Amino acid sequence: MPDCQQMNIAIAGSGNIGKTLARLWQRDPHLGLDVHFTGRDRIAPTVAAADILVLSVPWNAAADVLANAGDLTGKIIVDCINPVLPTLDGLSIGGNDSAAEQLQRLAPQARVVKAFNTLGWALLGGGYDGFYCGDDAGAKQQVATLVAAAGLRPVDVGSLRNARYLEAMAMLWIDMAVKQGRGPNFAFHLQDAHAAQ
Ligand SMILES: NC(=O)c1ccc[n+]([C@@H]2O[C@H](COP(=O)([O-])OP(=O)(O)OC[C@H]3O[C@@H](n4cnc5c(N)ncnc54)[C@H](OP(=O)(O)O)[C@@H]3O)[C@@H](O)[C@H]2O)c1
Repeated sequence: MPDCQQMNIAIAGSGNIGKTLARLWQRDPHLGLDVHFTGRDRIAPTVAAADILVLSVPWNAAADVLANAGDLTGKIIVDCINPVLPTLDGLSIGGNDSAAEQLQRLAPQARVVKAFNTLGWALLGGGYDGFYCGDDAGAKQQVATLVAAAGLRPVDVGSLRNARYLEAMAMLWIDMAVKQGRGPNFAFHLQDAHAAQ
């Protein structure tokens, strides 16, 4: 397990993803991760004391959380959200935009990193690939540490613009797991190919 610098983390959304991340991050005190849930009524004081805000709420709640979060200057926002339609038939945002890019536009003073969105919550901690992307190198470095602390292999896939593809990847995962009946016990994996002879 990685040695983390002290990080104070506020988590908005204490459901499947938020609760599981909190459990994994708190399992070893040597990780130095101080985790607090914002609840619905204490968002601003919890975020004020944190360096990192994890958004693990439904997409339709995200703008409200940011509006109530107070000053986000310099803070890292870890966006786990998939803007999935209630029917699970697709994404409500796609193509040339993503939830993560919209969040960055809503909070331009923060540093958004997309992470933890491409696999089911029950696979967190299982050593699978944890894809992440963002535009701020320092923020990405800290999120890579959090990905490893959540028991995944950090895989940097580039700039925040690529969140549109990570969200599409999540939609593919959901379609395969739910619509195609494969179930939730699989994860996408990046494997380097051997150079062609
Ligand atoms: N489930 C997965 O495997 C998975 C995987 C990757 C990404 N994601 C994404 O992660 C996000 C969370 O998914 P989840 O499965 O953890 O959902 P969930 O179990 O339904 O939990 C959602 C949490 O958000 C809270 N919430 C809802 N509206 C809120 C608001 N206005 N302000 C503050 N908190 C609010 C809920 O509180 P209450 O309990 O009080 O309603 C709940 O704690 C979603 O965007 C989803 O697309 C999910």
